[in-house]
Amino acid sequence: MTREELLGWLLEPEGARLTALYEQADRLRRERVGEEVHLRGLIELSNHCIRQCAYCGMRAPNRGMRRYRLTCDEALAAARAAQRFGYGSVVIQAGEDPGLTLDFVSELVKGIRDEIGLAVTLSLGMRSDEELAAWREAGASRYLLRFETSDPALFAAIHPAIPGRPTDRIEHLRRLRRFGYEIGSGVMVGIPGQSYASLADDLFLFQALDLDMIGLGPYLSHPETPLGQGAIAPLPEGVQVPHGAQMVYKALALARLLCPEANIPATTALATLSGADGRELGLARGANVIMPNVTPPQARALYEIYPGKAGKAETAEETFNWLRTRLAALGRSPGHGPGGRHRAD
Ligand code: 5AD
Repeated sequence: MTREELLGWLLEPEGARLTALYEQADRLRRERVGEEVHLRGLIELSNHCIRQCAYCGMRAPNRGMRRYRLTCDEALAAARAAQRFGYGSVVIQAGEDPGLTLDFVSELVKGIRDEIGLAVTLSLGMRSDEELAAWREAGASRYLLRFETSDPALFAAIHPAIPGRPTDRIEHLRRLRRFGYEIGSGVMVGIPGQSYASLADDLFLFQALDLDMIGLGPYLSHPETPLGQGAIAPLPEGVQVPHGAQMVYKALALARLLCPEANIPATTALATLSGADGRELGLARGANVIMPNVTPPQARALYEIYPGKAGKAETAEETFNWLRTRLAALGRSPGHGPGGRHRAD
């Protein structure tokens, strides 16, 4: 796909051509990663964060947020629930929290891998080489870190630097790859200041990085953040990427076309924006993964990256039952096994 073609698709209005794009993405998804929907139990381990990302409710300066960190036993119980529901892996996600020490995370990963038997994906921010190596050694096999935008000026504007800590997420992804992780990344769609041209670059970067996993969701405004308070003015109409659902579906379908083998979730942010339909339309337009939340309810309500998070008030059991029914209605089956990247020979 040329850059002009990609840009053309990003700008394509609702209509028959767009429907054909979605069908093409769905077909390619079926051919390359199959009908199974891999289920990853999401464990929101801690909402402490030292970063100051301008869009995120969990940013350090947000004093209004009650902070928590699950104990190892609480996280293991959540992983056991995931295993009971038949999920093949768990994703351990948190803010960038130095309180999650090398040893703590290593123990948790070992417990989940060796005692519960599930594959482990980590999403803990930018951590040291020593930590990344130790966690890989302990048995974590995948790592998620969204680069959010490939536009260096926009990236810098929304990710204030912390003295002494690296901020180059793209370099970090390459490092994760060298440590032997499957790598996942992605962007928010519709960040104020994000142009169509930069979103096209983001999509090509997914391809250049040969991502194993791609996470895409709408930017959702959080009132307690600089971006939510209008710190960056949107670009002129026709240049600024809108943050509506249609735009996310387009990006999702295009990500599938550019990276046919990638595992791509229908994200919680998409479900938050478009209700239950969001997940289903995502699955019909290129996605093949869902990350059902297994975090204990008191904690998941506090993990407030953006307001109104879908499933915030549900138990893991309720999420599971809902999912089972909806997948059956879609004619898709829950995945078996860890559901890693499936490489063509
Ligand atoms: N709206 C949508 N997504 C957000 N994220 C963080 N803040 C927001 C927001 N306000 C996404 C980021 C991050 C992921 C865990 O959640 O892309 O990488």
